[in-house]
Amino acid sequence: MEIPKLLLLWVLAAVALGVSQATLLDHRVLPDQRISSETGTIFVHELERELFQEAFPTGSEDDDALITFQTHLWDHPDLPRWLRYLQRDPRQPGYLYGCPTASEVGTHTIEVLAYNRRTYATVSQRLVITVIPAPGGEPPYQGEFLVGNRNVEELLPEAAREMFLQCSSGVWERRDLQVINITSALDRGGRVPLPIEGRKEGVYVKVGSHSPFSPCLESAVSPQSRFRCSLGQQPLASCYDTFAPHFSIRWCNLSLLQVWPSPTTPGLVWGSGVLEEDGDFQPPTEVPPHDLLPGFLVTLLVPLVVAALLCLLLGHLMCCRREGVQKRDLQTTDIQLVHHTTIHGDTEELRHMAGSRDVIRDVPRPLSTLPMFNVRTGQRINPIPSPRDGARVPLLPQ
Ligand SMILES: *[C@@H]1O[C@H](CO)[C@@H](O)[C@H](O)[C@H]1NC(C)=O
Ligand SMILES: *[C@@H]1O[C@H](CO)[C@@H](O)[C@H](O)[C@H]1NC(C)=O
Repeated sequence: MEIPKLLLLWVLAAVALGVSQATLLDHRVLPDQRISSETGTIFVHELERELFQEAFPTGSEDDDALITFQTHLWDHPDLPRWLRYLQRDPRQPGYLYGCPTASEVGTHTIEVLAYNRRTYATVSQRLVITVIPAPGGEPPYQGEFLVGNRNVEELLPEAAREMFLQCSSGVWERRDLQVINITSALDRGGRVPLPIEGRKEGVYVKVGSHSPFSPCLESAVSPQSRFRCSLGQQPLASCYDTFAPHFSIRWCNLSLLQVWPSPTTPGLVWGSGVLEEDGDFQPPTEVPPHDLLPGFLVTLLVPLVVAALLCLLLGHLMCCRREGVQKRDLQTTDIQLVHHTTIHGDTEELRHMAGSRDVIRDVPRPLSTLPMFNVRTGQRINPIPSPRDGARVPLLPQ
């Protein structure tokens, strides 16, 4: 009874652990998002809470979910130098913003990780930011305004930037203005404001144009105005402050900058392999048919011809250039031939005798044991002496 109970307990514990693990490690991946950006212009990407909130598993659909983000370059621990991340509060959206320069042209892949602070669920998304060179080049006339009554994230939404441009076109008297950079005054040595309603950090907004500054702006940075500023007074202004109700500009902190495009740096030349903005690669679907016959013939025929030639050469050498036994015999001296044939014949005889060693009766007597014939006397003698008179018989006939 004890063992089944224990087993049941184990199974229950494992299931409970598994479930809690599943909720703990809940992670979703959103599809990649492609954004493009131009050099010399502010880039702002809002990390929308709603997008990530929908991706969190069900059960966490409370509207004020606490979401924080973590952003970094894909495969790297930090963001690229030109990009900054900001989120004031877990109940507010996060912002990625910055101004890419010519050296940042290319593709930057950013990984965004969103945490739900209640359920610990995570959602990740990849942002593929393509930085392209500005077609008109960098605006040579740049003015930087310090907005005293704003925090940086309040100027990042597009509507706020549009409004700021409208206001600045009033004092600049131009229409082609664009926001180049937005920086918190805290990053420029400003002080953290007291936690009093209405106190803000202050934001530096850099605005650029291709046309010169208006007399109004120039008078605001004139030596006379600077002197008044050092006395704590407002600078001389010959025009109406069109920012007035929305943005309070610190006119003493205005700086005007004239940037000459350096002629030494040649513009980046885009090759034919670079995709258009937001374009996806379309692989060619049809391949033009290749004529493979010549290649096939060359690969097959050349080795065949070589092999045939080698065969012919070998055949000619072996069949037509053979010398034969007759020619050899003609070239050999007679005495050599006789030597050879006698040696040959003796060897044959010995072999024959060795082969029939067992059948003693059938063995013919060796030729050398046959009675010898004396040419002069006509006498035949047995070269094998009888045991009896072996001592008296001479070995050679006389
Ligand atoms: C934008 O502002 C940041 C912060 O002040 C600065 O580091 C960066 O160089 C500026 N970028 C451009 C293109 O001016
Ligand atoms: C604005 O300019 C004044 C004087 O030029 C300077 O003392 C002050 O630090 C500047 N403010 C900020 C936020 O940079």
